[in-house]
Amino acid sequence: MKIDHVALVVADLESTLALYTQTLGFTPVYREIILDQGVEAVGLQAGESIVELLRPLDPDSPIARFRGDADGRMHHVAYRVDDLAATLSRLQAAGIRLIDETPRKGAHGNRIAFLHPKSTGGVLIELCQPGGA
Ligand code: CO
Repeated sequence: MKIDHVALVVADLESTLALYTQTLGFTPVYREIILDQGVEAVGLQAGESIVELLRPLDPDSPIARFRGDADGRMHHVAYRVDDLAATLSRLQAAGIRLIDETPRKGAHGNRIAFLHPKSTGGVLIELCQPGGA
C-alpha cells in the first residue's frame, strides 16, 4: 500500500501553511472544509503523496484536544487502497476494530474509512480510495 497522505493537526493553519509553502517549498493542491471530520484541510504535494494540514473547526473537538498543548501533532497516516469496501470487510473479518464500517467522504473527492487505533498499534490509520464511487 502506498501512503496517500499524512495528516498533521496544527494550532495555527496560516503560519504553518506559510512555513510549508514559502520556506519548505511545498505546493498546495487543495484547501477545503471537511464538515464530516470537523476540520479545514490543506493538502500539500509531497512526491506521490500529500501532507495534509488540519485546523479543527471546533476548539473543543476530539481532534483539537488530540493536539493538546503542542503547536502541531501527527494525527493519522492514510494508506491508499483500490477497493476500500473489500479491504474493510477483510480487515473486519481479521478482527480489526473499525471506526467506519462503511466508506465515507473524505478530502479531495476520496472515499475514506478510519481503523481504530486500539487495533493498529496506537496510531490512527485511515484507508483511502482516490476518487472512489
Ligand atoms: Co486523512
